[in-house]
Amino acid sequence: MKILVTGGAGFIGSNFIYHVLENHQNDEVVCLDALTYAGSLSTLQKALEVERFRFVKGDITDMELVDKLFREEKFDVVVNFAAESHVDRSILNPDVFLKTNILGTQVLMDASRKYDVKRYHQVSTDEVYGDLPLDRPDLFFTEETPIHTSSPYSASKAAADLLVQAYHRTYGLPVTISRCSNNYGPYHFPEKLIPLIISKALRDEKLPVYGTGENVRDWLYVEDHCEAIDLIIRKGKVGEVYNIGGHNEKTNLEVVKTILKELDKPESLIEFVKDRAGHDMRYAIDPAKISRELSWEPHTTFEEGIKITIKWYLDHKYWWENILSGEYQKDYERLYGDKY
Ligand code: NAD
Ligand code: TYD
Repeated sequence: MKILVTGGAGFIGSNFIYHVLENHQNDEVVCLDALTYAGSLSTLQKALEVERFRFVKGDITDMELVDKLFREEKFDVVVNFAAESHVDRSILNPDVFLKTNILGTQVLMDASRKYDVKRYHQVSTDEVYGDLPLDRPDLFFTEETPIHTSSPYSASKAAADLLVQAYHRTYGLPVTISRCSNNYGPYHFPEKLIPLIISKALRDEKLPVYGTGENVRDWLYVEDHCEAIDLIIRKGKVGEVYNIGGHNEKTNLEVVKTILKELDKPESLIEFVKDRAGHDMRYAIDPAKISRELSWEPHTTFEEGIKITIKWYLDHKYWWENILSGEYQKDYERLYGDKY
């Protein structure tokens, strides 16, 4: 089948593209990505060598471009990863979050309706459920947990989810939605906690921990997330929401200390800084539905995954140094020049 992956030059989208190209030899993949600050073409270097893969630079909110692409390519499946994804940035500038995350979703779904796409999959987040209290470890997010958002980022993702469900009910668009917990792994942009701490610790820089560092996140190795999405688009039931998570809850301080231990760096690098406004306390996914209905199980424990991830950042210094220096933003011109 032919799959459109939007946002595929980013962290999870790129891992998903590699997953599909490796595991489904007959599938063709087109990536549509605007190459915002969060997208790097160097991330897709190996995919660009594969004939069944094509990269298109463009914005998901650009109706004309999206319409032309859908008309030409006749996609079977659309997987929408494209989003503004960083909570801290959403607090500083909500505007682009609403545009990309909500209006971009609408543009993609309108094209999916018009060109009879067989499945539109929305990659959502557990952050749409808000947060859980630290003193109730018995509570988890299920698919029935009410939407209750905290940040402009999570509010924009929740709005998109509601729109996806409305397009299913009103127009019969064949949709699925997945809501995953925090991911980590290769190609994670070094503004997010885990790659930020690894890249800073390697340079012996201070490590900013918000507030007291007691906030809990439920970490999932990115390949496990990609496998889950792959299953949902092939075997998931139209109209359904699937939570994805692997019961790997850690406080931020535990995560930072684990990384420091692995890198043999001192804990004195930790610096407690001003807390994030509206900071969610705890995320924790109950993945019982996807496990029961699609037999999905995560393969990588946090202890294994964090070792693999640290090794990846050590072996791919050029990737994140290129990003930190800003050089990566010239990759597209270098590769394509004024071809498009
Ligand atoms: P990311 O920020 O690493 O990548 C986003 C990609 O989207 C980038 O390549 C960027 O260039 C592209 N993009 C942004 N705006 C665009 C636009 N208007 N048009 C086309 N492309 C655009 O994000 P990520 O961490 O890979 O997250 C991918 C998706 O997964 C997002 O929808 C996010 O909400 C969701 N998600 C992320 C996590 C996580 O832990 N990172 C967890 C659950 C869900
Ligand atoms: P982040 O990676 O931004 O993901 P999210 O906010 O979507 O869960 O942050 C993960 C946790 O780490 C969150 O509780 C905020 C905290 N954090 C820090 O303490 N310091 C930092 O520099 C960053 C980026 C995050």
